[in-house]
Amino acid sequence: MNTFSALTRRDFTKTSMLAGAALASGAVSTLVADVPAKRIRTGLIGCGSVSNQYLPQLTNCPFVEVVSLCDIKPERARRQAERFKVAHHYPNIEAMLAGEPFDFLIDTTDMQQHEGINRRALEAGKHVWSEKPIGNTLAAGQDLLRIAKAKNLRLWGAPITVQSPQFAFMAKQLAAGKLGRVAAAHADYGHEGPGWSAFFYEKGGGSLPDLAVYNLTSLTGLLGPVKNVSAMLSIVTPERTVSDKGRIKVTEEDNAMVLLDHGQGIISHVQSGFNYFNPNGHNGSKETRHTISIVGSTGFMGLVGYDWEPLGVDLATKNSPTLERHVTDPQGYKWQQGAALAAECLVTGKELLVTPEQALHVLEIITAARESSATGKRIALTSTFKWPIVS
Ligand SMILES: NC(=O)c1ccc[n+]([C@@H]2O[C@H](COP(=O)([O-])OP(=O)(O)OC[C@H]3O[C@@H](n4cnc5c(N)ncnc54)[C@H](O)[C@@H]3O)[C@@H](O)[C@H]2O)c1
Repeated sequence: MNTFSALTRRDFTKTSMLAGAALASGAVSTLVADVPAKRIRTGLIGCGSVSNQYLPQLTNCPFVEVVSLCDIKPERARRQAERFKVAHHYPNIEAMLAGEPFDFLIDTTDMQQHEGINRRALEAGKHVWSEKPIGNTLAAGQDLLRIAKAKNLRLWGAPITVQSPQFAFMAKQLAAGKLGRVAAAHADYGHEGPGWSAFFYEKGGGSLPDLAVYNLTSLTGLLGPVKNVSAMLSIVTPERTVSDKGRIKVTEEDNAMVLLDHGQGIISHVQSGFNYFNPNGHNGSKETRHTISIVGSTGFMGLVGYDWEPLGVDLATKNSPTLERHVTDPQGYKWQQGAALAAECLVTGKELLVTPEQALHVLEIITAARESSATGKRIALTSTFKWPIVS
């Protein structure tokens, strides 16, 4: 039995993150002695805002060696390479692929760029972790997954809300029947919209793939794959000012109401947008209201805070009707750690709860919501994923 087989996946993740921190600080401990020597050679493309969240995780992860960075704004790649002590940096994907060899590509570019970059990386034999979305349509995403499988490569997409201990707790209560016959759920996530890049508001962007994607991943993870989608989408602010392009036209939804039919009578609703006053902005630790609530014939559950950085779960049941708070400890979970967890998976063979099939199902919900809003019709879905998600 190796060091890791005695640990649960969550304990293992926590251990590896702690070990990464110990390595980074140069501390000598028995924990470090347990860390495997193998690291996956990794390149990250897209050195903008979110790279500031990813790179600290990756450079402290005992399973990762970040060998190269890339950005079409070359000064950004150079700056991050200097800051995170990465030896090589490149101005485009072709130069990166022709340069320092690596096995794992992390794609944190604009949402519109993912599909092409992910395809190019898979064709070049790289495993891929992509920020959301993996591709622009279900068909394109499925084709990427087909290429990955044919080449014995792995492909994953953010977000990782199903990895949180709060998600695990909620899934367990549902599986144990604590809520009785589950009827309805509501989830919402919004803020006033990113101010740095135009792509969030242009074709291929929008609040569905940027924000609703978290709630859609959580609700499909908890209540199961969706059979039908109905939606109304709107543009509340038709023009905006953003740092990279100045004054721009908003062409994609910045306000979305999506109804999901999970089958067996269960209906849920996701609300997301870029015009939602939010005193806490992106500060997950300050959001303390229920952003996901689920109700059934004998119970109610509310997720405290955002699903990407949850703070606890409140539960009330017929047998115990006073709302009680559970799972306030993050147990090592961080929303920024998805690519590091994927690297751990590539090195050790441990599987994640995050799957490309679920990411593609969520992508189909997003495109179906747009079709529903444009046509006024309810849209039947074709994709599914392995459910329930159990840890
Ligand atoms: N910023 C956040 O807090 C945050 C959080 C979670 C997820 N995300 C996701 O991360 C992704 C990136 O968002 P961001 O906020 O970092 O955007 P950003 O505009 O700050 O950064 C994107 C970077 O990608 C680069 N880029 C674009 N096309 C490229 C190409 N073809 N080759 C190489 N580089 C290219 C741009 O020059 C830019 O530096 C998006 O999918 C977004 O939804 C962002």
